Amino acid sequence: MRRRLVAGNWKMHKTPSEALVWFQALLEKLPPTGAEPALLVPFTHLPYAAQTLKQRVAYGAQDVSAHTEGAYTGEVSARMLADLGCRYTIVGHSERRSYHGETDALVAEKAQRLLEVGIVPILCVGEPLAVRQVGGHLEYTLGQLERSLAGVSLPSPAHLVVAYEPVWAIGTGQTATPEDAEAMHRAIRGWLGERYGEAFAEEVRILYGGSIKPENAGALFRAPNVDGGLVGGASLMLEDYLRLLSALE
Ligand code: PGA
Repeated sequence: MRRRLVAGNWKMHKTPSEALVWFQALLEKLPPTGAEPALLVPFTHLPYAAQTLKQRVAYGAQDVSAHTEGAYTGEVSARMLADLGCRYTIVGHSERRSYHGETDALVAEKAQRLLEVGIVPILCVGEPLAVRQVGGHLEYTLGQLERSLAGVSLPSPAHLVVAYEPVWAIGTGQTATPEDAEAMHRAIRGWLGERYGEAFAEEVRILYGGSIKPENAGALFRAPNVDGGLVGGASLMLEDYLRLLSALE
């Protein structure tokens, strides 16, 4: 059985002090849940996450350097993240791909750096609107996945989370229908099965992301191959985040 995951992607929101207050409030209200809560926060918030969330809520960063160490001004290494107890870290988010020109090859290197220190990459893939409109979304997304995993060595299926985030659904209020999400997730699992074997693919968690809200989460999370969500906007409000967790029950 795949343990379902609600991963909040805070992007560039809240200050570290605001985050600390939020983390404390989350721990007070966190219901006993079978789903796994996780928060992907700005680098500056991670020491507070390490102090407060500890074993109860997983946390991690939204990006990592492709280099291990050295003269790379402004970069943060995987080893630094591991030292702060990060369990997950996002790689290949579409905002990094489009605003920072990140290629699939770079994303693969970043994923590999994380795996070398035991952090699970949450690997984002997904097609832009123009590709969906001409029906090329499966081919596009599976190609992105293949190239973003080229040369990456995965010790086990627990060491990979794939997030399908159609670019046209991110922050737009438009979501994929549960049927469209399921079709893509099934295709991703099928591809993973061909590449790593079926038993392996069955255990990899595949999250949907793009304008998930408490109101639409129930239907999306009921799709059999949707193992949870990567949630931006709705993960910033505590009540919404708690409702998303209970939508996975
Ligand atoms: P959104 O963001 O939920 O605000 O659409 C999702 C994401 O970018 O991970």
